[in-house]
Amino acid sequence: MTEILKGNLVHTPSFGRLETLPGGFLLLEDGVVRGLYRSLPREYAACPVTDWGEALILPSFADMHLHAPQYPMLGMGMDLPLLDWLNAYTFRTEARFTDAAYARRVYRQLAEDLISSGTTRVAMFSSCHTDATLILMEELERAGVTGYVGRVNMDRNSGAVQEETEASLSETRRWLDACRFPHVRPILTPRFTPSCTDELMAALGELARERDLPVQSHLSENSGEIAWVRELHPDCGQYWETYAKYGLWKPGTLMAHCVHSDSRERQAMADAGVWAVHCAASNVNLCSGTAPVRRLLDQGVQVALGSDIAGGDLLAMNKAVVMAIRASKLRQMETGEPFLTVPEAFYLGSAAGCRYCGGGAGFETGYPLHAIVVDDAAMPEPARSLELAERFERAVYLMDKRHIRAVYSEGRRVLG
Ligand code: GUN
Ligand code: FE
Repeated sequence: MTEILKGNLVHTPSFGRLETLPGGFLLLEDGVVRGLYRSLPREYAACPVTDWGEALILPSFADMHLHAPQYPMLGMGMDLPLLDWLNAYTFRTEARFTDAAYARRVYRQLAEDLISSGTTRVAMFSSCHTDATLILMEELERAGVTGYVGRVNMDRNSGAVQEETEASLSETRRWLDACRFPHVRPILTPRFTPSCTDELMAALGELARERDLPVQSHLSENSGEIAWVRELHPDCGQYWETYAKYGLWKPGTLMAHCVHSDSRERQAMADAGVWAVHCAASNVNLCSGTAPVRRLLDQGVQVALGSDIAGGDLLAMNKAVVMAIRASKLRQMETGEPFLTVPEAFYLGSAAGCRYCGGGAGFETGYPLHAIVVDDAAMPEPARSLELAERFERAVYLMDKRHIRAVYSEGRRVLG
């Protein structure tokens, strides 16, 4: 079916480049973007039109790192550093997900909250519970959230959620065999080096190769964590080598944080095609540091953004975009590295993750539509009429659920 969306179109077709089409037309064929027009070509005059009036139509967000079972502990333990926070709050919270009914309630709420906040793509950590992970995937699929979910592997230093090595592997295989969701795919998820034995890491690397699966984990988030990894792997010069050693360091591997990744570690990422996922709110909440995003980008590393719920407290990705901008400004004041502009950070919070998931950048033709419709009329009345680019900037800073009138995911309207 051919249809047209009409409205104020704004997107970032490439990193840092903002394109605005006031009162523009977006042509869809079975949900796939076929063209953007400033005025409608005559040949489409008879097509059905959804007219969003004065509203803004923007690409939806991609949250490329969050922990679904930590949603119940949002805003808790925020005065602790990473390793204490994991032990005092996180593992206990995740232990609740042996309860399938509890998992269903929490994950249904999370999936709905993602969509109503404008997030349609994710790379998510579940817990080490196979059934709860399948429930999570089902709830995301039902709500219209697309992307990747990982059942977490953790067979040491993991308190109430520690697994036996063999069980971790056999449950991972059981989970993979049960994954049959068209838009929510599996990603192997060793939690991080301190929570996985060498034996487990080696077997996961083998599984990734055997079944051609992507991998996600954490890297160089916190100085205590990095010192611990050095003790655990005295043979590895740097943290990343503990993943490389077992075949987990490969094109498309997602590494959250990279706060303390130096030039050599960044180069290893660029060379291998490993992505960095920047989670600014979490980095500040847990006093981890400010990630060197500009340096990562300058060295050719692919970067996307994540909320890192619940180290991060902001599920709404426009807030994560703004946090990334603020963190980059703090870094500029310290180091002189140029901060992220609004179009740059918006690209990282939308197009970058969308591309990771096989989609297009912004409203790129040939890819299913992922978009939000934002009504900024309820925002404070401006002192003069605004250019569309100014309205876009204001929407990135100010929008919340109340302003999001509709959400399109994978070419389908899933809200509004
Ligand atoms: N490193 C290992 N596990 C976690 C987690 O749950 N959150 C964060 N922020 N870092 C981690
Ligand atoms: Fe995390």
